Formats: sequence, C-alpha cells, structure tokens
Amino acid sequence: MTQATIKIKTQSPRKRVTMLGSTGSVGTQTIDLIVRHPEKYDVVALTAQKNVKLLVEQALLLKPEMVVIADAIKYTEVKEALAGTNIAVASGAAGVVEAASADSDWVMSAIVGSAGLPGTLAAAKRGATIAFANKETLVCAGPLMMKLCAEAGSHLLPVDSEHNAIWQVFDFEHPESIARLILTASGGPFRTITREAMATMTPEQAIKHPVWSMGAKISIDSATLMNKALEVIEAHFLFHMSPEKIDVIVHPQSVIHSMVEYEDGSVLAQMGTPDMRIPIAHTLAWPERMATPAPKLDLAKIGQLTFEEPDPVKFPALRFAREAMHKGGTAPAVLNAANEVAVQAFLDKKIKFLDIERINEKTLQSQPVVMLTDLDVLADADMAARRFAEEMVSQIS
Ligand SMILES: NC(=O)c1ccc[n+]([C@@H]2O[C@H](COP(=O)([O-])OP(=O)(O)OC[C@H]3O[C@@H](n4cnc5c(N)ncnc54)[C@H](OP(=O)(O)O)[C@@H]3O)[C@@H](O)[C@H]2O)c1
Repeated sequence: MTQATIKIKTQSPRKRVTMLGSTGSVGTQTIDLIVRHPEKYDVVALTAQKNVKLLVEQALLLKPEMVVIADAIKYTEVKEALAGTNIAVASGAAGVVEAASADSDWVMSAIVGSAGLPGTLAAAKRGATIAFANKETLVCAGPLMMKLCAEAGSHLLPVDSEHNAIWQVFDFEHPESIARLILTASGGPFRTITREAMATMTPEQAIKHPVWSMGAKISIDSATLMNKALEVIEAHFLFHMSPEKIDVIVHPQSVIHSMVEYEDGSVLAQMGTPDMRIPIAHTLAWPERMATPAPKLDLAKIGQLTFEEPDPVKFPALRFAREAMHKGGTAPAVLNAANEVAVQAFLDKKIKFLDIERINEKTLQSQPVVMLTDLDVLADADMAARRFAEEMVSQIS
C-alpha cells in the first residue's frame, strides 16, 4: 500500500452541510466553526429571511451551491449581488424547503419559530443528520417529527445546550435506568427583580441576557422562562421521557448545561463555558469531536456554582408547559403559536412584558385540543391559536 492510499483511507470524507437560518445567532456561530476547518466541509445551501447583506457576504465566503432568501421581495437584490457566480438563488418558503431537500449530509436547523418546520421536515424525510436548534419545531410537531426521523433514519442531534448536554450523558441503551432529566436554567435577566418591576420592563431590557448572546425571540423567551418551558416539552419528545421525570433548576452561572439522574442515584452532568459553539461543534463533528475557539472552563476562577428552585409565581411559564404536555395533541403547538405572537407584539411595543404570559395562558386554555394526526391538523391549530392571540394583542394595544 502506498503512502497516498494510506492517507486517503485515514482522512474523514468532507461533510456536505446546509444551514437553514445562516444569518442568525446560531447560524453565524456555525459558520464561525466551519470557516476554521475549510478542509472538512462543503457548504451546499444557506438560507435567511431578510438579511441580504450578510447572506451575500456568507455566500461569497463559503461558495454554496445555492442560497435562499425567504422574503421573496428581496430576491432580485440577492440575485444581482451574486451575478457572475455559480450560486443558484431561490426565494420564499418553498425555496427554504428546496435548500433543505438538496443533497447534503448535515443540516443545521436554526430558523427561529415554527417557520422552521417545513425545512426541518424536508431534511428529515431524506434521512439527513439534523443539528437541531429550532426547538419550536419539536414543540409543535414532536411525535410527527420523531416518527419521521425514525422511519427515514435521520439523526436528530440537539443543539440547545441543555439537550445537547443530556444527549451526551443519556444512556440510550438503558433508558429505563434513568430516573429524571434535570434541565438547568440561567434564570434570565429578571431573576432577581420583583414581579412589579418586571411589569415595566422594555424589550431592550428583556433582551439583555446575563450569560448568553442570542437572537431576539429566544432572549425574550429566556426572560419569561418560556424558553425553559419550550425546552421541557422539547426534552419530553426528544428523549421520550414522561413530563413528571423532567425537572428544572435555576443555575445562574450556566456552567452545568443539564443533568441526567439514574435510578442508583448517580447524576451525570455535562459542563462547559457558556458558548454555543461548543454544542454546535458537538453536532457538527459528530460522531467525532472538533476543537473550538470557546474559552476553556476554569472552575477555580468561577469559584462557586449555585442552584435555586424556579419561582412559580414570578415565572408561570413552566406551569403552562406542564399543562400543554398534560393536554397533549395540539396543545404544545397552541402554546408555541401564542407565544410567538405575544413575543413579537412585545418586541413591537404593542403589549407589556407580563401580557406575554397572559396571552399564552388564555390562548392555551381557550383552544380545543385535537389529536396530532398529521400536519394539516397542526397547521389548523397553529392558525386558530395565532388568531386568538392576535385578537388579544389588538384588545390590549
Ligand atoms: N441563539 C442561541 O444561542 C440559541 C440557543 C439555543 C437554541 N436556539 C434556537 O435556535 C433557533 C434560532 O435562534 P437564533 O437565536 O439563532 O435566532 P435569530 O438570531 O433570530 O436567527 C434566526 C434565523 O432564521 C431566519 N429566519 C427568521 N424568520 C424566518 C422565516 N420566517 N423564514 C425563514 N428564515 C427565517 C433569520 O433570517 P434573517 O437574519 O434574515 O432575519 C435568521 O437567519 C431558535 O429556535 C432558538 O430557540 C438558539
């Protein structure tokens, strides 16, 4: 055997990767990792909603086969900016599905909200490995999504730092030995202020997360603890765990990303600096590992790790998650739809911070629960919940 043959045999093949939501917080951090290892990755497709400038910059840097701008009005702008390249340009929600359907090994699902569902489903259907940041998709369509992935042989690798942590310490061969999942929560920016003070908080204040730098929607969700509520539902579907076996503990330092407690009392935790590039890298290199530029964990410097129970009065969102899981069927999708409407209305300054939880609770209570048999049922429930929540917004504003 020649040196050349040995080299070829020991090199990992290049991974063909697609990024849905490449211009967002998760998307740009994924690209940050990819550009550090140009010998390992070929970029197949990039998608964005409206950020033409960044999408074009990313396209010129990574030379994907195609880019998609979901906001069709901006198609010509992207097309003209990429004239003279070999990069195909598409637009609209159908374009995102086309990007997800294009032949690639690995798809980063990092569109925010349930708008990420069609693309993620398309990637699952063709058996791609999916790095899964878009929790709203699993919250809305959990059972359908898990079934589809199992049938198509698609691996679902969680990017959310909590689920990624659990995934790393979860004994998939002996799930019956697991007593409990313990999701950690930073507590968000309003952990230490009173509910009265929370009532007056502005979007600018709510977006300032004490630990993580993230997109606007997830930052607001962290302030209401709806992010944790959505994550509890996500964990329920992803790990097939009953709701009573999923607990949340507030851990402001965000060093322990989550834990699995086994029946013998052992608790396995995954730790690391709070830097999303660590869980993203875990899914990108999987089943191998890769180096990241994230600062290494220095426990001596941190000194103390602290824990506290979440305050159920200040943050009722966790109760909504439990109610939604208890109701089952379309209830989690209803809660998610209400929350998407309410968060956008808060960001647009149409409602106050505490109106978000009112809209979420009322919408969840008002909507009928339907068995989640297919995507049409889901779409109907989502639309009805959005209408109800929008009506509440217009009554408030
Ligand atoms: N950020 C984090 O650290 C973090 C951590 C864990 C989980 N997650 C989850 O990851 C997902 C993305 O979060 P993010 O913080 O990265 O959000 P983000 O910064 O707001 O980015 C969202 C991405 O989706 C695109 N997009 C928005 N609406 C779209 C639509 N209707 N159709 C197609 N594309 C659309 C955006 O394009 P434009 O830029 O053009 O608007 C952008 O590329 C969320 O589900 C979030 O819960 C995020």
